[in-house]
Amino acid sequence: MAQQEDVFKKLVAHCKEYGFVFPSSEIYDGLGAVYDYGQNGVEMKNNIKKYWWDAMVKLNDNIVGLDAAIFMHPTTWKASGHVDAFNDPLIDNRDSKKRYRADVLIEEQIAKYDDKIEKEINKAKKKFGDAFDEAKFRATNPNVLREQAKRDDIHKRYSEAMNANDLEALRQIIVDEKIVCPISGTANWTDVRQFNLMFQTEMGSTADGAMKIYLRPETAQGIFVNFLNVQKTGRMKLPFGIAQIGKAFRNEIVARQFIFRMREFEQMEMQFFVRPGEEMQWFEKWKAFRMQWHKSLGMGDENYRFHDHDKLAHYANAATDIEYRMPFGFKEVEGIHSRTDFDLSQHAKYSGKKIQYFDPELNESYTPYVIETSIGVDRMFLSMLAGAYTEEQLEGGDSRVVLKLPAILAPVKVAVMPLVKKDGLPEKAHELLDTMKLEFNCRYDEKDSIGKRYRRQDAIGTPFCVTIDHQTLEDNTVTIRYRDTMQQERISINAVADIVRKATNGHEQFKQLMTKLVK
Ligand code: GAP
Repeated sequence: MAQQEDVFKKLVAHCKEYGFVFPSSEIYDGLGAVYDYGQNGVEMKNNIKKYWWDAMVKLNDNIVGLDAAIFMHPTTWKASGHVDAFNDPLIDNRDSKKRYRADVLIEEQIAKYDDKIEKEINKAKKKFGDAFDEAKFRATNPNVLREQAKRDDIHKRYSEAMNANDLEALRQIIVDEKIVCPISGTANWTDVRQFNLMFQTEMGSTADGAMKIYLRPETAQGIFVNFLNVQKTGRMKLPFGIAQIGKAFRNEIVARQFIFRMREFEQMEMQFFVRPGEEMQWFEKWKAFRMQWHKSLGMGDENYRFHDHDKLAHYANAATDIEYRMPFGFKEVEGIHSRTDFDLSQHAKYSGKKIQYFDPELNESYTPYVIETSIGVDRMFLSMLAGAYTEEQLEGGDSRVVLKLPAILAPVKVAVMPLVKKDGLPEKAHELLDTMKLEFNCRYDEKDSIGKRYRRQDAIGTPFCVTIDHQTLEDNTVTIRYRDTMQQERISINAVADIVRKATNGHEQFKQLMTKLVK
């Protein structure tokens, strides 16, 4: 674990050193849990958004896009339930004066029991080798049974307390489990209180009677309030979806772990409208499609898992997360929710407008049910960097840091380098760049030795480096060097663009995804 935390620290430093992520307004010592994306970060973030948009809006004939405003009429948030129920349960340690989320403290405690069980199993696996029967071991080993019983007990109490909004019961679990503050080491806890996560501001001047408005805590409501606009103007027939990418804001109290939990972040959300009663079948289809989207990026199937929710949000009748194995454990990257007809019905009630769909096949009107897929751009970004960050020892005692990013997400696709800064080589390099730069993000580098230039590109995850040398001037061949294997090949200069295109245009991934399209 300590080793993993070490890797995470290095990753954060790497992000800054190589222009991926900077603390916001750093010259003023930064702003808590707010970050800026640098020259490489913004390219990678745009690539993530494009990969999502293409897979959702372009591949699926029945999904269209939307770009709703961040500011919305304040009644939106009353109707959606966020004014009354978008809360975190908070607890303070009286000695350290630090504030924590009570639910997070308990979930971390549950994870500790899981870790203990995992350790026992791994020990036994090593001992018994191929003969090891995990199911039998789980059912009979006294250590595993003891830890599992403790885990199940706290898990049950936790689910019940969260579902009943019983803050005293949450506190009691923390006390009974002897959970201490990591700073003070004491269990001197206050009561648990609810804290609303929405940021408020005012619109208009106070003289006019300013209106209190909120920064949206999710992009989803912009889709719901536009349901009729899009359905009618787009002549959309159920089932269909509306997708949107945009900023969301939450006044997170426990804002740690870099860009994992931010106060200003970006979401890619899609609401899929279906007939009432058919929502569970669509929920399963969207689970499969979204999981395939993640796995298609080639970061290792074993690094993904589903995690069903213990406590359903106020609007959901089923919910699951797609989790990725981060350096600090499996963590949620995407949520998939069956939101019932809650949002459309609430907006109909609060606006006084009829928000329904006339189904020509059934010859009746109804309020559609909704399946939502909601992924954080920043979490996706972090998960890709965490999976890609690799320190390698090379032959001859050398070492390198390389980001083994999926080529489709890499900020720079190809770097072109003249071997020397003279003899017409820079001009030839620019000639090649000019043929590619509108299609791919390319980089030109003529400074330092070729070895150093390769390392610089490895550090930002550039999948291809192309070197122009004197032979190029004679026979139009270049050396192409592959990031992950570091192998080099002599190829025709005319073949470069095609190699880069094939590796980065996503056609292979989209072919896999087409087999799982949601129809
Ligand atoms: N509309 C549903 C919704 O907003 P959510 O589970 O609260 O659901 C969806 O958020 C996704 O947004 C999460 O899976 C996560 O990737 C991202 N997200 C949520 N809060 C975040 C935060 N404070 N910082 C970064 N990403 C966040």
